[in-house]
Amino acid sequence: MNPIEFKRHRRLRTHPTVRAMVRETSIKAADFIYPLFVTEGENVRNPIASMPGVDQFSIDLLLKETDEVVELGISSIILFGIPSSKDAVGSEAYDDEGIIQRATRAVKERHPELVVLADTCLCEYTDHGHCGVIHGTDVDNDASLELLAKTAVSQAKAGADIIAPSNMMDGFVAVIRQALDEAGFKQIPIMSYAVKYASAYYGPFREAAQSTPQFGDRKTYQMDPANRMEAMREAESDILEGADFLIVKPALSYLDIIRDVKNHVLLPVVAYNVSGEYAMVKAAAQNGWVDEKKIVLETLTSMKRAGADIIMTYHAKDAARWLEEK
Ligand code: PBG
Ligand code: ZN
Repeated sequence: MNPIEFKRHRRLRTHPTVRAMVRETSIKAADFIYPLFVTEGENVRNPIASMPGVDQFSIDLLLKETDEVVELGISSIILFGIPSSKDAVGSEAYDDEGIIQRATRAVKERHPELVVLADTCLCEYTDHGHCGVIHGTDVDNDASLELLAKTAVSQAKAGADIIAPSNMMDGFVAVIRQALDEAGFKQIPIMSYAVKYASAYYGPFREAAQSTPQFGDRKTYQMDPANRMEAMREAESDILEGADFLIVKPALSYLDIIRDVKNHVLLPVVAYNVSGEYAMVKAAAQNGWVDEKKIVLETLTSMKRAGADIIMTYHAKDAARWLEEK
């Protein structure tokens, strides 16, 4: 009989060691940035209902949490602050004694080797919940820039290793770079939330950070989820303005964008596996509908396969533990 010609792809899948040899993507604890929420008080640990396993910590308990993070081999954390008071201009964001500044100093003192990122935005600090100052019914771009630059400098002074601006004002990288340089922080990198969509996937985060806009939405500054070319424009301008890393956010519904950015730029690309993505997995896992460990590791692998060099994820601690088991 004359056999039909076909390829035997299964040859490379037969032996587990050969499968491991031809595996194209791997994830490790050092790839992760773990987001942490800091609140006022002592001995405070407030669970976030929509994000099981994620809590708000007072600084004393935050320090214990970072012990665990370091122990697990996770390289880096990003801090989000819940201030004691909010106002129209987000004053606590750029207060040298603000919650993030105090938390950063405390963490760096305890773990000098742990990379601490500061999220530079105003939405957690403004009473209206927008990422900049309001003029009329919209966020005033240029008036917000000055306050964001002050915030970044204050975070750097507190010891932040990397500034991660998430506010989506035009020009934020340029003004923050200039302000950091002038303040003597030429060596502090900027990890820009360059490509950030106006996404429903941020819902649980806004509960965690108490930063829901009190009116309107973020569509005049965050991107339309339907757009792809626009992501390249955002990436390009941030590179020109001096960004050192580019974040794509959210991640799971935007793997195509991660790949586009990866193919077009020469900077490290960061995927932000956001709160809503985490919440969906947790909810399904708690119902016994999916295998949490397998789903999480598959999801994180897909983000790296798409082109992410680094992943910000609330799954970081669990994933680091599971990767150690294997
Ligand atoms: C603040 C900020 C947000 C997130 C990170 N920084 C929320 C938003 O823009 O509404 C979202 C993170 C997440 O959902 O996990 N600008
Ligand atoms: Zn914001």
